[in-house]
Amino acid sequence: MRMWGGRFSGETDPLIAEATRSVDVDRVLAVDDIDGSIAHVGGLERAGLLTRDESRTLVEGLRALREEVRAGTFAWDPALEDVHLNLEAALTARLGPVAGKLHTGRSRNDQVALDLRLWLRRTIRELDADMVGLERALVDRAERDGEAILPGMTHVQPAQPVLLAHHLLAYVEMLERDRGRLADCARRADRSPLGAGALAGAGFALDREATAADLGFAGVTANSLDAVSDRDFAVEFLAAAALAMVHLSRLAEELVWWSNPAFGWVTLADAHATGSSMMPNKKNPDPCELVRARTARVAGHLSTMLGVLKGLPLAYQRDLQEDKGPLFDGAAVLGSSLRVMTAVMLDLAFDPGRMREAALRGHVTATSVADALVERGLPFRVAHHVAGRLVAEAERRGCRLDELDDDAFRAALGAEDGPEAHRLADEVGSGLAGELREAATLEAAVARPRVVGGTAPERVHDAIGAARKRLDHLAG
Ligand code: ARG
Repeated sequence: MRMWGGRFSGETDPLIAEATRSVDVDRVLAVDDIDGSIAHVGGLERAGLLTRDESRTLVEGLRALREEVRAGTFAWDPALEDVHLNLEAALTARLGPVAGKLHTGRSRNDQVALDLRLWLRRTIRELDADMVGLERALVDRAERDGEAILPGMTHVQPAQPVLLAHHLLAYVEMLERDRGRLADCARRADRSPLGAGALAGAGFALDREATAADLGFAGVTANSLDAVSDRDFAVEFLAAAALAMVHLSRLAEELVWWSNPAFGWVTLADAHATGSSMMPNKKNPDPCELVRARTARVAGHLSTMLGVLKGLPLAYQRDLQEDKGPLFDGAAVLGSSLRVMTAVMLDLAFDPGRMREAALRGHVTATSVADALVERGLPFRVAHHVAGRLVAEAERRGCRLDELDDDAFRAALGAEDGPEAHRLADEVGSGLAGELREAATLEAAVARPRVVGGTAPERVHDAIGAARKRLDHLAG
């Protein structure tokens, strides 16, 4: 059935109807569409295009539809192309000819652009809450278990000791930037396109500012051609979502490794792991693996969106209908991934003993020893060399740096050319060896980076406090 058949004499080929239909996807926009229509009715009434009675009838009809949509009782008709036509047909069936006045001064082109911006606003609000939820979980765990020391890694090799809290707070930083990016996207999308019409602007004296204010927008779009064809917000949203997923995938990847018994730093809750159909011993971190994989899906959506927009001439083109799948799926995947990682994080068990064991094995305090030598007057490059010799010697003896005897320190310093090294070799017996052994302990090494942003316990303590305070100030 054609909704506006005047120009046509034949029906749409069912094959074409099937290929162009979007209602299965865009029905997600139903409530936004109705909210937009209610605001448009207000605009039409203010412009004298609807009587007070007509306006009231339309608003009541639209509200009734909204209830049905919310209750899940609305009967979607796949024969009607999209969400807009479904709702318009339902309104017409109930109200009769007055429903035909709703589309005055409006096109589905500005209508769908409006719906998407309304959807985006509420979706970003929900995702922000999910991000805050994960931040809270990370800060909780940092407070509860954060004193554990683990071997921080670069190149996946043991590097320097860090506090578990410091590691967890790194993800809080990423999530804060993710929140900022979504907020930035929401801020730029905060303009109402309603009144842009099909492309040239509505042919009636609609007060666009007033309708925009009714819908809670900060203002209106300035160019009708741009308004109906702009999907920058979809790209910005998917870029922010893809990057947030990248962050989640890094956390997920670490939990996959850390839960491997060879690490044994983490045990996932039984409720957050799965078994194997064949191997009775298996406990698999599937939820983390799926978050990791779905990152590719959202990154793909970003690429799809850019591809859809590339080279599109002004103004609205039907290509733009293809924005919805990527947008809706990207948002759904990010939301569920955030909630999954929150649950996993809250219920897993850290094993500080296994972390410490790993840290003690990796000679991760060598930099601390080198730094201590610098404080005793060695140029850093020489100190680096001496500490390297000490690592080699500890490897040879199968011991830790803080277990080396005085002779080992004397030999490492004595093997250097510089006068400072020789002077220090003489001082090994009179306290220097003890100092270096102390610097080689995990506690001393983790306490050393006291710079802003470093892993020293007092810094991390402050960072937890600051994060906690910031999160406590957020509503919800
Ligand atoms: N389903 C369409 C979309 O999402 C609505 C706008 C259609 N406009 C049109 N002129 N065909 O883009």
